Amino acid sequence: MPVDQQEFRSLMGHFATGVTILTTHDGEGTLHGLTANAICSVSLVPPLLLCCIDKGAESYPSFAASGVFTVNILSSEQETLSRRFAKSGGAKFDGVGYRLGRNGAPILNDVLAHAECEVRHAFDAGDHTIYLGEPLEIAMRDQTDPLLFFRGGYRNIRA
Ligand SMILES: Cc1cc2nc3c(=O)[nH]c(=O)nc-3n(C[C@H](O)[C@H](O)[C@H](O)COP(=O)(O)O)c2cc1C
Repeated sequence: MPVDQQEFRSLMGHFATGVTILTTHDGEGTLHGLTANAICSVSLVPPLLLCCIDKGAESYPSFAASGVFTVNILSSEQETLSRRFAKSGGAKFDGVGYRLGRNGAPILNDVLAHAECEVRHAFDAGDHTIYLGEPLEIAMRDQTDPLLFFRGGYRNIRA
């Protein structure tokens, strides 16, 4: 018997993570992004990371359409941004500072780190698709704390 969905969600909520906004585009100039913490390092040679995208997300088709995404790792100052990108609909990028990376996906201002990726593999996984991306451009900032997520709530590393 599979475990209850809510219990499973609650279980995984005990695995403390950072928070990212995955950005991409639809290949025709429209930008998309969603808050995500199902991110993981997979391989060093070649460098590969994975992200998992809900098939029901509005931005879902754009990941396949463009074949690129950028992982924006959020700082402790970016909880409001995380909340904005965790809701479907609306003009998510209005009033948000960003520049387009070489892969055409937005790099958000003031993030802790980012990785511009090209999709190398995609795997069907229940109600999500797992994308393996190769990071081609990366950058990190020192002296900046991460935004954390634990037991369904945002946390600060110093709290
Ligand atoms: C902390 C946090 C982590 C999340 N992680 C993921 C994730 O890894 N993958 C995913 O598809 N959705 C994740 N979500 C949910 C999406 O952010 C949410 O469904 C969003 O509305 C999708 O936006 P869209 O419909 O505009 O694409 C997460 C939400 C939060 C608050």
